[in-house]
Amino acid sequence: MKKNLLLIVVLAQCLFVSAQKLPDGKARKTIDQRVDSVLKLMSLEEKVGQMNQYNGPWAATGPLTNDNDLLGQIKSGKVGSMLNVTGAVRTKELQELALQSRLKIPLLFGQDVIHGYRTIFPIPLAEAASWDIPAIERSARVAATEVSAAGVHWSFAPMVDIARDPRWGRVMEGAGEDPYLGSLIAKARVKGFQGRGLGQTDAVMACAKHFAAYGAAVGGRDYNSVDMSLRQLHEVYLPPFKAAAEAGVATFMNSFNDLNGIPATASTYLQRDILKGQWKFKGFVVSDWGSVGEMINHGYAKDNAEAAMQATNAGSDMDMESRSNIQHLAKLVKDGKVKMAVIDDAVRRILKKKFEMGLFDDPFKYSNEAREKAQWNNTDHLAAAKDIAKKSIVLLKNNGVLPLVKEKYKSIGLVGPFVTAKSDNLGFWSYDWPDDSTRIVSVFEGVLRKKTPETKLLYAKGCNINDTSTAGFAEAIAIANQSDIIILTVGEARDMTGEAKSRSSIRLPGVQEELAKAIIATGKPVVVLVSAGRPLVFNWIADNVPAVVYTWWLGTQAGDAIGDVLFGEYNPSGKLPMSFPLTEGQIPIYYNYYSTGRPATSDSDRFYRSAYTDLSLYPKYPFGYGLSYTQFEYSDIRLSQTQFKPNEKIDVIVSVRNAGNYDGEEVVQLYVRDVTGSVVRPVKELKGFRKIFLQKGETTEVRFTIGVDDLRFYNDKLQYIYEPGEFRVFIGGNSRDVKEAGFTLIK
Ligand code: BGC
Repeated sequence: MKKNLLLIVVLAQCLFVSAQKLPDGKARKTIDQRVDSVLKLMSLEEKVGQMNQYNGPWAATGPLTNDNDLLGQIKSGKVGSMLNVTGAVRTKELQELALQSRLKIPLLFGQDVIHGYRTIFPIPLAEAASWDIPAIERSARVAATEVSAAGVHWSFAPMVDIARDPRWGRVMEGAGEDPYLGSLIAKARVKGFQGRGLGQTDAVMACAKHFAAYGAAVGGRDYNSVDMSLRQLHEVYLPPFKAAAEAGVATFMNSFNDLNGIPATASTYLQRDILKGQWKFKGFVVSDWGSVGEMINHGYAKDNAEAAMQATNAGSDMDMESRSNIQHLAKLVKDGKVKMAVIDDAVRRILKKKFEMGLFDDPFKYSNEAREKAQWNNTDHLAAAKDIAKKSIVLLKNNGVLPLVKEKYKSIGLVGPFVTAKSDNLGFWSYDWPDDSTRIVSVFEGVLRKKTPETKLLYAKGCNINDTSTAGFAEAIAIANQSDIIILTVGEARDMTGEAKSRSSIRLPGVQEELAKAIIATGKPVVVLVSAGRPLVFNWIADNVPAVVYTWWLGTQAGDAIGDVLFGEYNPSGKLPMSFPLTEGQIPIYYNYYSTGRPATSDSDRFYRSAYTDLSLYPKYPFGYGLSYTQFEYSDIRLSQTQFKPNEKIDVIVSVRNAGNYDGEEVVQLYVRDVTGSVVRPVKELKGFRKIFLQKGETTEVRFTIGVDDLRFYNDKLQYIYEPGEFRVFIGGNSRDVKEAGFTLIK
């Protein structure tokens, strides 16, 4: 045994030595040494060039500034990075220009790869509904494989903003309202993008955005300001960012909003104290599109020069598209307003990533036309997209009509504006999809592939997504009358939820609800599919149809995934990652609210109701909610002990039985409440979950282990502590319907 160990040590030493040495015996430089040797050669202007990012000449994701000499600037070393430049050919073309600059420093190409590149996956909010962490990591892995082959080095994802307001259009890009689930998903996405490590040809740098609290914009209006206690910031909004940093995310993006009066782009507190200080983040921070220059509009900077100074001094390393750095930083350094050490730190961080990506060794490493071509119609990628699409679907209601029994129906009526829709299945942030809809599977095609040859498929659109015409109703009603069952599709168009797409009304647009009423009036059984990027309000439908399936925007494989669920080839297992409000008047509504002095326990409490007199306390569907074709029964909670000390742990155990008629998956959720604290605590906080599979009739034991690290919180001095005392623990299939027990943490 000892001998073997010795051999391993000697071998490891040899490998280490040879990895550190060049063939001529000289020591190989570390990346830090190589960075320093480049930095030494750089003029101030060249350093500032690295801190400058431009949009490519072909596509835009924000307001453009006219620039006549973009290519000339690349050649003269004034640009460190480009966004919205994709494809092996284009990236090569621009990289060649960068290599004509004096120091031949390669460009970094960044792109919003939010939910896939060639194979479009479900939108991130939908993926979060799968609660399937490995599948989410795989989704980012596939996206990285595809986009890296197109010469892109850097994905502006994951967006890890917590969102409690479904009016905010960007809820679609994140993981919903919960910091625990959001943190696990943030980690998974970072790991997925960065794969086996930067420098592998199929890995891209990830970017945790938007730092920070962008999702808390007042009123859910995009780009709006944010005013919140630091305690809430740390407790709710920062955890997914911290998780991304811990997972080794290469970059961060700051945000458009101000936080407590300071634009995030110029926040020393966020970028220097927390991110680069407390969290020891070694990557670099890119601004959001134009957010440096926009500080003039905020009334925080008097001009672009002051904006560049404020952002850079606060730790924003690269300026996306506002031109403030490139135009003013050099002079600011000469005038003593920005220290050279600050510039050097920013440039070092950027160069380091370029070295880690291997770009100094081979600037064209990622731009590979053959590899790029092979990403088209990659069957493994399509299978991964379908797998998570099925898992993202949430069954909200079912009176037994689902799953559809193929042989039972002579005719199925498909009605609504999404039946044959193609690009509306993709959703926002999927503009890299070329104009070729043949690869997207529609609901019609999905159902067509599943039905028996004898079943007739009838179709009527009924109405458009968002206009007032009811001219198509008559045909839709006629189709419904001829059908044994109707599948009605309703929802939002792909550009109704996304950046700058906040809506005050989150109801079905146009006359879709009227169409639903007309179809249901036929008396035929109706299954409603809701296609959307955010939680919508659709109470009439929810209350009057036998079955409702929330299908979000599921991507390329939407139709096939929906077909599998409708016909019972996959038993739905998705759970909502956001509370669905009853009406917009309830917003913001979220499950982990702080305890109040007059906690309402029912809608009839007259004085004990921290709620409205004209509305129920409860959301339409609570966080964590989602049905299955089978039923799961939970036993009472058993605890390994009811008291424990800080150096101990307790087990919280529940038995779950599949009491229905189908095999299926369940997400068993664990919530905790700290009954009394030195600060007011949330009524429930998710602290763990397991996604389990049970055959019908099967029972399993699910065990969670709780230690003091699961009970920590930020006190009023922002210390992350635990406090002895009473705790309640809850386990269930959603945040509302739970079993409950209690334990005590003693000193
Ligand atoms: C968005 C970012 C995005 C950037 C580049 C901005 O408008 O807020 O999330 O990465 O544009 O497209």
